Amino acid sequence: MAKIPVRLLDLMRQTEDPHVINLAAGIPSSDFLPLEALKGAMEGEMASRAREMFSYHRPEGAGILREAICDYLKVRGIGVTADQVLVTTGCTGALASIMSTVLKKGDTVVCEAPAYYGQLELLKAIGVKFRTVATGVGQEPDPAKWQKAILAKPKPKLLVITSTLSNPSGATLREEWRPKLLEICKKAGVPILEDDIYGDLLGRGRPKPIRAFDDGSTVLYVTSFSKTVAPGLRIGFALPGKWMDAAADRQCRQTIHGGVPPEYVTASFLRSGRMDSHLEMLQSVYGKRRELAGGILSRELPEGVRADDPRGGYMLWVRGGRPGIMDEVAKQCLSKGVAVVGGGIFFANPPKEACFRLNCARATPEDLARGVGIFCEVFRSVLSRKK
Ligand SMILES: Cc1ncc(COP(=O)(O)O)c(C=O)c1O
Repeated sequence: MAKIPVRLLDLMRQTEDPHVINLAAGIPSSDFLPLEALKGAMEGEMASRAREMFSYHRPEGAGILREAICDYLKVRGIGVTADQVLVTTGCTGALASIMSTVLKKGDTVVCEAPAYYGQLELLKAIGVKFRTVATGVGQEPDPAKWQKAILAKPKPKLLVITSTLSNPSGATLREEWRPKLLEICKKAGVPILEDDIYGDLLGRGRPKPIRAFDDGSTVLYVTSFSKTVAPGLRIGFALPGKWMDAAADRQCRQTIHGGVPPEYVTASFLRSGRMDSHLEMLQSVYGKRRELAGGILSRELPEGVRADDPRGGYMLWVRGGRPGIMDEVAKQCLSKGVAVVGGGIFFANPPKEACFRLNCARATPEDLARGVGIFCEVFRSVLSRKK
């Protein structure tokens, strides 16, 4: 029987299995990729810039992409120039670049509980100590809670936060709390690593990134186009502030630079003006998928177990019941052809209640309804039996 994933690597491999309804890995649906626009961008770049596109270029990223990123950021409230932008291999490359530049073994890091397991894996590989702040939809920590963690001893070297639609909790830091959190960190001399990969999926009312309130001295901003345009492009970027040169130097030693064709295609897509309508389409289809799954969960989950709607994105975070049941639920679901991920991997310290993240984006609506139904049935049966 297939094994329950415990690493990012296992989750990514599991997505290739055509026999399971995969609600586990956090990857978006390939049904909604802007393929026509990407094809047009690729053809246009081939016709006009093929020679540059297949040559070495500046390690920080192609100039035309860094310029296009500045325009993209401007409408999100962030004013930077191209020389402040470091193009990376996905958001993962940006997280790795910043973390390994700023941190060393034994440093203390403040992060969310739960937090994206990719962040936790990178931090564990560096060998940091964790201090966590609990978060959830409707239970977002206020600035006082963050302050307590930031001011505790030993002084943390970094605060890591996915500020909008955090993965897996779906929590979004309120806009009015953003300048307050920034102020606390600035005063304490603790930089914020802001991961904004889901920000564009929240729609028009999305809060401004924390970086929009900063001059670049405290907030190190990272994101990518993996959840919005296309994950296969592997285009992300960082605003590393005063660590720009050190981060670029590290990245140059490791890879020189990323693939140039995806950089040119992404620049062309950003310049095409199609981003806004594409995002509106994603917000609408993902909203319908969350509604479908959320309806089944609210009717069929056992009492005391809940999944609050994050109002954006494509993931639902289910929590409640004894934490000891997580493996059994995941195993039984998998034996019935449904992959779900037990929430343990999202915590630096073991969680106090059972939790699961369900990806509503990838399965067809029929498979999603069937998969969520099976998950609820298994959850009810395991919770009622096991003590
Ligand atoms: C919060 C967060 N950051 C980073 C990533 C990785 O992004 P990328 O695929 O661009 O490397 C993910 C992917 O799930 C994520 O949820």
